[in-house]
Amino acid sequence: MNRRIVLLPGDGIGKEVMSSAKEVLSAIAEEFNHSFNFETHEIGGAAIDTYGTPLPETTVTACKQADAVLLGAVGGPKWDQNPSHLRPERGLLGIRKALDLYANLRPIKGFKNLLHASPLKEDVISGSDLLIVRELTGGLYFGTPSERRDNGETVVDTLAYTRHEIERIVDKAFQAAQGRRGRLASVDKANVLESSKLWREVVEEKKAQYPDVTVEHVLVDAAAMKLITNPTHFDVIVTENMFGDILSDEASVLTGSLGMLPSASLNESGVGLYEPVHGSAPDIAGKGIANPLAMILSAALMLRYSFNLSNEAKLIETAVQSVLDAGFHTADLQITNGRQVGTAEMTRLVVDFIRTQSASKCIASCYY
Ligand code: IPM
Ligand code: MG
Repeated sequence: MNRRIVLLPGDGIGKEVMSSAKEVLSAIAEEFNHSFNFETHEIGGAAIDTYGTPLPETTVTACKQADAVLLGAVGGPKWDQNPSHLRPERGLLGIRKALDLYANLRPIKGFKNLLHASPLKEDVISGSDLLIVRELTGGLYFGTPSERRDNGETVVDTLAYTRHEIERIVDKAFQAAQGRRGRLASVDKANVLESSKLWREVVEEKKAQYPDVTVEHVLVDAAAMKLITNPTHFDVIVTENMFGDILSDEASVLTGSLGMLPSASLNESGVGLYEPVHGSAPDIAGKGIANPLAMILSAALMLRYSFNLSNEAKLIETAVQSVLDAGFHTADLQITNGRQVGTAEMTRLVVDFIRTQSASKCIASCYY
């Protein structure tokens, strides 16, 4: 298979973890006889520094022509005081919008031997396995441009959704639930927000089309509590952009580290952008200690969702599982035993595992 992959490392640890993903993908390409052509472009703070904009036109064009896009992370204190149109995050929001990546899939599943690294009780989180389906191109992030009025004394952010935007993400979530344990929790704030009332109406209308899926509506405040008091209750959670952003960081606690969570952002034609849920972690950038596993697992999601290469994706996931099982971990994982390694060594361990396996040996105990 011949595929063109655009790499957008971005800022901070984004650059480090991207080179890990590239190494892993190159090993997969060799092992399985694929040809992956990588093209690197700027986004976020790095793009502001070079081009004066967080999302250069060349980056957008390259992404539109690519078969898939991998993104590291954007942001950092260097650009914190910039006006909003020159914030690195604008680049990320801009590329999501430009590619119409409305469906953000964030699978959250604890690795067995990392459970004790979570501040939550092991018996509470054990067995949790959920998928957050976050709407990614609407809501507060994309309302009529936010503004300050009355000499800056009044601020306005707008939460807007069209019926079509809600329908397509709700459909995606129902379909995901059909492929999993058949349970869908739609999270909203329908006791207060008009957008949530329409959201709830759409879910109610849609459920007749998916009789094999059990649906419940959960208010976002209650969902936030339930997520850490009874996480095994959830299978698929579907929610709007901002709620999904907040709940997915909260849910990362179930896995012991935000450094473990991959995500896939898809549009209607199946083109995808894959990125870790974590940010650019400027405090540890450049030190060679970042956890590359979320980025590596995001590359696995790319192989599965964009290229339909499920054996290759499984091999990467099995490699990650096996390296963790062997006791290796990066500094973000508060593990008492085992051996702490840096970004490069963790990557090498994953690559070594891949190289020593043949395609036919991809083990069925892969973790998804
Ligand atoms: C995420 C991030 C982004 C978001 C930021 C960096 C704009 O937190 O992908 O979850 O809020 O979507
Ligand atoms: Mg976030």
